[in-house]
Amino acid sequence: MIIAANLKTNLTRVDTKEYIDNLEKCVQTSQTQNEVLVFPAMSSLLAHEGKVKVGTQNAYATKNGAFTGEIGLEHLAEFSIKTILIGHSERRHILKETQATLVEKFNFYKELGFTIVYCVGEPLEKREAGKEEMMAYISAQYEGIDTAYENLIIAYEPVWAIGTGLTPTLEDIEAIHTDLKAKSSAPLLYGGSVKVANAKEVLDLQNVDGVLVGSAALKVDDFCEILKN
Ligand code: PGA
Repeated sequence: MIIAANLKTNLTRVDTKEYIDNLEKCVQTSQTQNEVLVFPAMSSLLAHEGKVKVGTQNAYATKNGAFTGEIGLEHLAEFSIKTILIGHSERRHILKETQATLVEKFNFYKELGFTIVYCVGEPLEKREAGKEEMMAYISAQYEGIDTAYENLIIAYEPVWAIGTGLTPTLEDIEAIHTDLKAKSSAPLLYGGSVKVANAKEVLDLQNVDGVLVGSAALKVDDFCEILKN
């Protein structure tokens, strides 16, 4: 299983270092076989050696250059980071990244052999519009993406379930994951209000290969509980 923490715009550099050190201890002592990924805030990126893999929540499709407010390959290489989150709903909806931008990013970091956690998921109005419209919306998020890329991980995260405490039913998660597995055989994570109390039942579902956790990952002890599942 792949258990990933998206720390978003939380935890300072000092807090992040402590978080990752404690998480590494948890991984080592629990002897979990799970693959553990952490995505800290940009200014908290750090070089870490151990079982916990550190990735970036974002980077521009460039080595360096004039892209104010962005970081590029050079800044990731400084910390030996080779994992990137692309297409998170907050980047799509709040930061207005288009599918074309995401595809450009995807291709740039794919060429470099990065592990890419690529996120897809529908807003509430698409879910309420019925299965056909919902699947058409999600399918459009696969456009231009090399679904056979060997270092690809996909995360299905319904937008309305992120940070809200709401989740689809277990049956719904399993059904959508089964449909999405037909589009790509890459490992498929579920994300959206995963917490200690529901992680195990989600991870037990067919075609769920892991979870991407936001709020509930902010406390390292909780995230440690989740990955021990
Ligand atoms: P959440 O966030 O666990 O707080 O719902 C998940 C995510 O945004 O990846």
